[in-house]
Amino acid sequence: MVQFTCYLIALSIAAGGLATCKRDVATVEADIATLVRQVTAYDNAIVAFPPSNGSVDDALAIHAEATTIINTLNTAASDVQAVGEFSEDDDTAILSDIETSLSTVLSSLTDIVDKKPAFEALPICGFQALFLQDLQNLQNASVGFGNALINTAPATLVANFTDLTNNIIAAYGPALTAYSS
Ligand SMILES: *[C@@H]1O[C@H](CO)[C@@H](O)[C@H](O)[C@H]1NC(C)=O
Ligand SMILES: *[C@@H]1O[C@H](CO)[C@@H](O)[C@H](O)[C@H]1NC(C)=O
Ligand SMILES: *[C@@H]1O[C@H](CO)[C@@H](O)[C@H](O)[C@H]1NC(C)=O
Repeated sequence: MVQFTCYLIALSIAAGGLATCKRDVATVEADIATLVRQVTAYDNAIVAFPPSNGSVDDALAIHAEATTIINTLNTAASDVQAVGEFSEDDDTAILSDIETSLSTVLSSLTDIVDKKPAFEALPICGFQALFLQDLQNLQNASVGFGNALINTAPATLVANFTDLTNNIIAAYGPALTAYSS
């Protein structure tokens, strides 16, 4: 009976995500690790998309990857707000984690521009508009995460998170322009 109860608790935690757990610095670091994994998967799917005769399912999978990243960014922003205030040591570690992952984000933004003709060649139209919307939502969710980090940073690191957020916003520029035309 004890085991059965534990099983039920485990199930209800799985169903409710982390909402019932205490959210701390480790939660935010886990969110960033998840983001790195998801952005890598997004970039890999873009790179793997063939220049011609690509499949609609594979293109939809890229859209699905973008959606999971947006959800994680929103979760990460909410987790940062829940922590409320970061020590200089913890926030230095978080800053460094994000800076390390930046090159993956930048690669995906270059790769999706390079692959635009392959998505336009698909037998159903609308991928340009769909991917533009993904990019807008990704940029917006990145701003949300960045602002949460800026608002909770110790005074000594506010400028660092502000610069980082501005750099990420700017990095979306070329991809947004490419998919807007
Ligand atoms: C693309 O698919 C068409 C029709 O199946 C085929 O004739 C053509 O050779 C393919 N092109 C490439 C580059 O695979
Ligand atoms: C924050 O930015 C300042 C000024 O650019 C820099 O000197 C410092 O090393 C940065 N701090 C961290 C933890 O990266
Ligand atoms: C942009 O993100 C904020 C959260 O940071 C959210 O409240 C808002 O609805 C988003 N806007 C769009 C257009 O998705």
